[in-house]
Amino acid sequence: MSADELKAKGNAAFSAGKYDEAVEHFSAAIALDGGNHILYSNRSAAHASASRYAEALQDAEKGYSRLGAAHYGLRQYDEAAAAYRQGLELDPSNEQLKSGLEDAESARASARRGPPGGGLFSQPEVLSRLATNPTTRAYLSQPDFMEMMQAINRDPSAMQRYLGDDRFQTALQVGLGMNIVTPDQAAEMETEERAQAEAAKPEPKAEPSTAAREEPAAEEPAPEAPASTPESAPTPASDSPSKAAALAEKEAGNAAYKAKRFDEAIERYTRAIELDAGDISFLSNRAAAHFEKGDYAACVADCEEAVERGRAAHTDYKLIARAITRKGTALAKQGDLEGAIACFQKSLTEHRNADTLKRLHDAEKALREQQAAAYVDADLSAEAKEAGNAAFKRQDYPEAVRLYSEALKRGPPGVNPEAHKLYSNRAACYTKLGAWQEGLKDAEECIRLAPDFSKGYSRKGHLQFFMKEYSKARETYEAGLARDPDNAELREGLVRTVQALNRLTRGEGSEEERRQTQERALADPEIQAILTDPVMRQVLRDMEEDPAAAQKHLANAQIAAKFEKLVTAGIVQIR
Ligand SMILES: *[C@@H]1O[C@H](CO)[C@@H](O)[C@H](O)[C@H]1NC(C)=O
Repeated sequence: MSADELKAKGNAAFSAGKYDEAVEHFSAAIALDGGNHILYSNRSAAHASASRYAEALQDAEKGYSRLGAAHYGLRQYDEAAAAYRQGLELDPSNEQLKSGLEDAESARASARRGPPGGGLFSQPEVLSRLATNPTTRAYLSQPDFMEMMQAINRDPSAMQRYLGDDRFQTALQVGLGMNIVTPDQAAEMETEERAQAEAAKPEPKAEPSTAAREEPAAEEPAPEAPASTPESAPTPASDSPSKAAALAEKEAGNAAYKAKRFDEAIERYTRAIELDAGDISFLSNRAAAHFEKGDYAACVADCEEAVERGRAAHTDYKLIARAITRKGTALAKQGDLEGAIACFQKSLTEHRNADTLKRLHDAEKALREQQAAAYVDADLSAEAKEAGNAAFKRQDYPEAVRLYSEALKRGPPGVNPEAHKLYSNRAACYTKLGAWQEGLKDAEECIRLAPDFSKGYSRKGHLQFFMKEYSKARETYEAGLARDPDNAELREGLVRTVQALNRLTRGEGSEEERRQTQERALADPEIQAILTDPVMRQVLRDMEEDPAAAQKHLANAQIAAKFEKLVTAGIVQIR
C-alpha cells in the first residue's frame, strides 16, 4: 500500500472517531514517506483527539494550528497563543487559527485568575489541613508562600523550583496528610523532645515557633504548643526542690503571659531565673514578655543573656537560635535594621528555619527601601543634572554619566518627571563613548517613560545606525515620525538610514561594511527566527529554483516583510 492510500485510510478512521486506528495508518504512512509533514500534522490530530497531548505536540511541530491545539491541551496557553500567532503571521485570514488564538488567550486569562479547581493547593482538604496546622498556617500569611502555591496550581511542574524551600516540603507533607520522617528529622525530633523536657513544657505560647512575634499577641491561644495548658503539662521529674519551684514559677508566668498580664509574667520568670539559672527558657520567656510590653531594650538584654548562658551550658541549638532571632526582631522594632539583619543571619547559622529566613528577607528589604528613600532629594537631583550637563559640554562624558546616574538615584522613585530626560542625556553620553548597548537601553527606557518625547527615538535610531542595524534604525525613526512628523532630526536620520540601506542592497557598500552588517544580523534573534522558519526556507529555495513560485510567496505581505528584512540585513542580495 502506498503512503497516500495509508493516509486515506487514516483519515477515514479519524472521521469515524477511531483515533488509535488512525494513528496506526498515519504511522505506517510516515514509515514510507517520512518527509511529508502533512502526515505528522494528521497524526498529531489523531493523538490530540485521543488526549495524548505529548505525542501530539511532537507531531505538531510542522503545523502551527496543530501545535497550538497541542499546547492548549497541555494547558500551556502562552505557547499555544504564540503558535497560533506564528501561524497567523503566515495566513492572517485563517479562521481556525484566529479562534484558536482567542481560546488560548481567554484560557490564559482565566488560568491567571485561578485554576478551575485543578491545582494541588486549591483542593479544599489540602487547604484546610494547611490552615489547621500551626506551622503551615503561619505560611499562609506570607506573600511569597502564597505566590508559590499559585504558581504550583497553575503549573505543577513549578514544584521543582521550590524543592529547596523547607516551607514547601512541610506544606506538601501537611497538605497531603503524610507523615514522612527521615532519619535526620527523627534525630532532630529526639533532641527537640529532650530539649523541651529539659526546658520544662510548656513554654508560653510565644515560645515555640512564634519566636518574638511582632503583633501584640492577637491570636492566642498558641497553636504551636498544643500540650501547653499549664495544668495538663507533664512536669518532668526535677532533681532539686529549687528546680521544681522554678518550674512552678514558670508555669505561673506562662499563665500570666497568656492572659497578657506581662508585668506579672516578668515577675514570675524573674523568680524562676533566681531559683534556677541553668534553664535559659526562663530568660527567653521573659524576653518575650518584655517584647510584648514594647520594652525592646530589656528584651534584647534577656536574649543576649540567654544566648550566653545557653552556650556555656551547651543548650539545644534551636533554643539559642530562637533567642538570637528574638533579639533581631526587637532590634528591628527599635529601628536598628542592620543589627537585626546580623542577628537573623547568625540565628540561621545556628538553625535554619523558614520563620527566621523570612524575617531576614523582610529586614533586608526594609533596609534597602530605607536607604533608597534616604537618598532621594529633589534639590540634589537637580544639582547633579546641571553638573551633568556642564560635564557633557566640556566633553567629560564618563563624569556626565556618573552625574546623570546620581540625578536619577536622587530623583523620587517611580514618578520622577525628569527621568526620561536624564535617560536621554545619559544615552547621549553613552553614544559619545561608543557604549552602544548601554545607550540603547537608556534610549529605550526614555521611550518607555515618555512615548511622545521625540528625542528618545532619535537617540535610539542614531545608536542603531551606528551599530549598522539599518532596518531597525529605520523602524525607530518611522515610529518617532509617526508621533512627530516634522521633527528634523528624525527625518535626517531616516534619510541617512535609507541611503545606507540602498547602498547595501545594491551591493555598493564596502566589503567591510557588508560583512559587519551580516555578522550583526546573524546574531539578531529576529533574523535567526526568519532563517529557521520552514516557510521562509522554502521561499528562499524557490527564489533560486522557481522564481514564479517565489513571486507568489511575496504577494503575501508577511512573507514579503520578512524577506525584506533579510535583504536590508545584507543576508540576501538582489541582483
Ligand atoms: C490530513 O491532512 C489533510 C491535508 O492537509 C487534511 O485534509 C486532513 O483533514 C487531515 N486529516 C486529519 C485527521 O487531520
